[in-house]
Amino acid sequence: MNKVVGVLRNISEEKFSRYLIQEKLGQGGMATVYRAYDPLFEREVALKILKQEGLNDTQVRERFERETKIIAKLEHAAIVPVYDVGRSDNDQLFFVMRYMAGGSLADRIQKGSLSLLDAADLIQRLGAALDYAHAKGIIHRDLKPDNILFDEYNHAYISDFGIAKLTQSSIKITSSGIIGTPTHMSPEQAQGEELDGRSDIYSLGVILFEMLSGQTPFEATTPLGMALKHAIEPPPRILRINPNLPIGVEAVIKKVLEKEPKHRYHSGTEFANAFIGTLAQPLTSEANLVALPPSHVYPDDEVAVLPRSSVAPQRPSLRTRIRAWYARVSEILSVCWRWIWNTVKKLIR
Ligand SMILES: Nc1ncnc2c1ncn2[C@@H]1O[C@H](COP(=O)(O)OP(=O)(O)OP(=O)(O)O)[C@@H](O)[C@H]1O
Ligand SMILES: [Mg+2]
Repeated sequence: MNKVVGVLRNISEEKFSRYLIQEKLGQGGMATVYRAYDPLFEREVALKILKQEGLNDTQVRERFERETKIIAKLEHAAIVPVYDVGRSDNDQLFFVMRYMAGGSLADRIQKGSLSLLDAADLIQRLGAALDYAHAKGIIHRDLKPDNILFDEYNHAYISDFGIAKLTQSSIKITSSGIIGTPTHMSPEQAQGEELDGRSDIYSLGVILFEMLSGQTPFEATTPLGMALKHAIEPPPRILRINPNLPIGVEAVIKKVLEKEPKHRYHSGTEFANAFIGTLAQPLTSEANLVALPPSHVYPDDEVAVLPRSSVAPQRPSLRTRIRAWYARVSEILSVCWRWIWNTVKKLIR
């Protein structure tokens, strides 16, 4: 093995295992991703180096080795291929993946550069990829627009399959130290229950909701508030947010975001077909090229939690902080109250 670097300070000159680091692409909650060059196969790759937490623990390392073998076996036209996984000499766990030059779905939703036709195409493609992985017993657990990446030909791929389980982190600490919101988490995941593929189908439903309306179904100022909303609160009616959508979309969203997994679509393909069936015109028609709204912009003082954060907030004024605390406490109280009320109603029935 070639020289292994410890801390990647001067990244333009650094080597990690056999890979030559070219530029830092970004940093998520669990890892830093670099564009790198693989001299062995003479190709560009994405190198994802996981954060060091817990690596001295033999159990963590064994789990990493076990799980990565499963992940590396995923071969699908809409799943980012993993080329290599390993542990460097100084105990850093890493993944090497295909380099995706076209950015993420999160960027495209933010810009508002998607059409109804794009949304249908994406759901169909991603739904089939999920079905393939679920048939192999692999659940993504962290499906969200940041983990949908595009190649240079504009084809979408799911990235980071199973990595959330591997690092045992589903509510993440972002690079700025802010706790990220579990915006795409299924109710069962939010409650720490056992998961199956239907949890990913729910998350895919949240992604569709976001593409069609420019916002996630639930918004809250704390991860706990968000988790409670996924668990208890019915999603808002999407046609109220975007009245230009085909009428049948309402029922599809309602079904895919059902709290009980058994009431949801049972596969990604079933969900995709139901959504495509609601589009009044054939998928090649001009009507389906209608632009979808860009991502909802959060006002400055709602900074306790950011949906996908990499920007550190300024410290807000005392007045703003008191207002934020008041909103947070009333939100938690109102969600708890609704939960108690629903439980009492169920018991009476
Ligand atoms: N295979 C890839 N090709 C190109 N860019 C990538 C690739 N994988 C990740 N990236 C980019 O690297 C950055 C960090 O990705 P990472 O997966 O670590 O975090 P994330 O998915 O944004 O957030 P989280 O850690 O919460 O899942 C993102 O900007 C992402 O688009
Ligand atoms: Mg990711």
